[in-house]
Amino acid sequence: MRQNKTILVTGGAGYIGSHTCVELIQNGYQIVVLDNYLNSTKLALKRVEEITQTSLKIYPQDIRNKMALRQIFAQHNIDAIIHFAGLKAVGESVAKPLTYYDNNVGGSIILLKEAQKAGCKNLIFSSSATVYGTPEKLPITENCPTGNTTNPYGTSKFMIEEILQDTYQADQAWKIALLRYFNPVGAHASGKIGENPNGIPNNLMPFIAQVASGKLNHLEVFGNDYDTLDGTGIRDYIHVMDLAKGHVLALDYLLTKSKGEVLTVNLGTGKGYSVLQMVKAFAKASGKKIPYTIEDRRPGDIASCFADVNKAHKILNWHAELDIETMCSDAWRFIEKNSVKTS
Ligand code: NAD
Ligand code: UFG
Repeated sequence: MRQNKTILVTGGAGYIGSHTCVELIQNGYQIVVLDNYLNSTKLALKRVEEITQTSLKIYPQDIRNKMALRQIFAQHNIDAIIHFAGLKAVGESVAKPLTYYDNNVGGSIILLKEAQKAGCKNLIFSSSATVYGTPEKLPITENCPTGNTTNPYGTSKFMIEEILQDTYQADQAWKIALLRYFNPVGAHASGKIGENPNGIPNNLMPFIAQVASGKLNHLEVFGNDYDTLDGTGIRDYIHVMDLAKGHVLALDYLLTKSKGEVLTVNLGTGKGYSVLQMVKAFAKASGKKIPYTIEDRRPGDIASCFADVNKAHKILNWHAELDIETMCSDAWRFIEKNSVKTS
């Protein structure tokens, strides 16, 4: 079934996109990649080619370029789209809300219109646990309320989810999966692709990795007075390769369904780890010291966030397999192999 299906991967050069490209190819899907390299480089796709021993069809284009999309749909018989392309920095979204709404929401609308014109109505969307805002209960189930978002990035994800729901209501031939990721970390086991943020990382794991490599001198822990086991924030960290596998299974599910639907699924491990537990695990995996200071809470942060993962297991037969040790050792291998260190 997978062999003759072609998938358009928007944002395929990015962190999650590149790992998913590997998993799609290794599971027999054909892919076409579109990325404008706003937050990535050509190198990641070169590495995907190395890992998979294939030659990729790549379009260095923007999802807002409707003529480029039209050309892609005309040249390839696209069976489904995995839509990763978007901007994702929470702080930047507060400073530049219009840029975020234009790129994420405006770009998704253009993509959807062109897909619809081309008759391609199968789509997986990269959503986020951020749509739940401050969770009303833990673990978070898919039917917890959404929309109480605290920044334009989160609101853009919520808005796109709503747009996709309305699109399905208007035309029930659409088969859509809203995959709500928790905290993706780690890297491909080869060490060839991984997370490589521009500038100073916003997220915990790449920050810790740069402290371990000597690029940054210490981690600032944002708050140790939360109501958690050690006072630091708890998150559901999920290995990016587990996440990538979730996309392959969601695609299998959509492409074998006879009827349209909007499937909403959490992709997490169901387990939470604190900031200090992550620091300890990374120090062990890397053999490096991770100095840290305790600072004030970061505005907008919540104490704890972890997923109820029963729906993913029941419907997609998916569950995360890789543990926190593997997340840390794979992330470290990527850093070491790519000599991101400066000292
Ligand atoms: P990323 O920035 O590494 O990848 C996104 C890719 O999209 C980049 O390669 C970027 O160049 C490309 N892109 C951005 N705007 C584009 C446009 N207009 N046209 C074409 N390409 C464009 O981010 P990621 O971590 O791989 O995230 C992928 C998706 O998953 C994003 O939509 C993100 O919001 C979502 N997500 C990420 C996380 C996370 O913590 N990493 C969590 C939840 C959801
Ligand atoms: N943290 C620190 N120091 C840092 C960075 C983070 O102590 O330098 C702490 C945070 O306070 C939080 C935890 O580490 O307790 C995780 O923070 P991240 O920034 O790595 O992740 P968030 O859970 O805040 O947010 C991430 C993405 C969002 C996404 C969300 C849920 O940045 O885009 O996961 O998927 F929406």
